[in-house]
Amino acid sequence: MKVLIIGSNGQLGRQMQKSLSARGVEFAAYDYPEADITDASSIKRRILETAPTTVVNCAAYTNVDKAETDADNAYRINALGPKILSEICESKGIELVHISTDYVFSGDPVLMNGLPRPYIEDDECKPSTVYGRTKLAGEQFVRQSGAKHYILRTAWLYGDGDNFVRTMLRLAEKGTARVVCDQIGSPTSAVDLANAVCGLIGTGAYGLYHATCEGQCSWYDFAKKIFEIANLRVDLTAVTSEEFVRPAKRPAWSVLENARLKRIGKNVFRHWEEALKEYLGSEMKRS
Ligand SMILES: NC(=O)c1ccc[n+]([C@@H]2O[C@H](COP(=O)([O-])OP(=O)(O)OC[C@H]3O[C@@H](n4cnc5c(N)ncnc54)[C@H](OP(=O)(O)O)[C@@H]3O)[C@@H](O)[C@H]2O)c1
Repeated sequence: MKVLIIGSNGQLGRQMQKSLSARGVEFAAYDYPEADITDASSIKRRILETAPTTVVNCAAYTNVDKAETDADNAYRINALGPKILSEICESKGIELVHISTDYVFSGDPVLMNGLPRPYIEDDECKPSTVYGRTKLAGEQFVRQSGAKHYILRTAWLYGDGDNFVRTMLRLAEKGTARVVCDQIGSPTSAVDLANAVCGLIGTGAYGLYHATCEGQCSWYDFAKKIFEIANLRVDLTAVTSEEFVRPAKRPAWSVLENARLKRIGKNVFRHWEEALKEYLGSEMKRS
């Protein structure tokens, strides 16, 4: 087995390198511009050089707010990029891991017995942002390509990069933070997501998977837990989405059920609080 990681400088890309190294799996790793998913010749060159059995696409346009006014670029990277990548993988018989998002859903909860239930893989997709629409188009292109593929939809991801946890740690230095309390999701560690990817690679269990840490909370609860674990005194205020308007509308409900991973015995995700404790432990050592 040999893995080619594209988008290797991102949160998941960095973690994939660590997780594959820990397992003794051979890999090559590139980011833009050394490997540009929107440029077929660049990807073909890297594939020829490295002869992978699996390509893991960690590359994406992830600035949800900027995407609202930069839709062409977001589409190029999130939709046309996976199209190019998957068509090349198909022509060479290489399997592809592609990462998608909770933003493919509307964010309106599906009710069961009057209560919101987590989205499952078969639920209807109805993105309400540019980012969500481009990511959904990316999923569709990967499926249409005929490549052997695993698509993992994740959410609220944090790892080595810009993320909510690091933002909260920065705000803690000022002593105050205002955080929305009416958006619910599952904070997901890049460590767990990379473990899930490693667990699928080479199995042939192709298809679409939800891939988030277990449990759910609001961004406010998440911030509260970060400050509690890190033992930081912060004046934390809960605000509503209406009070905290952003260019891209955030989904109110982002909870995904890892239904298919559970069905095949590959749900390696921990509860979000457990994964967060580990992450904060390593962040403390870093600083
Ligand atoms: N972060 C989240 O909360 C979240 C939530 C749900 C789903 N996801 C999905 O999870 C995956 C990994 O996210 P992440 O947080 O690790 O992303 P990230 O940290 O933003 O990393 C994305 C990487 O892709 C690179 N890239 C951009 N355009 C490229 C191109 N044309 N060719 C090659 N590489 C390119 C970026 O480089 P530059 O930095 O130079 O642009 C960056 O290194 C993505 O598919 C994302 O949509 C993320």
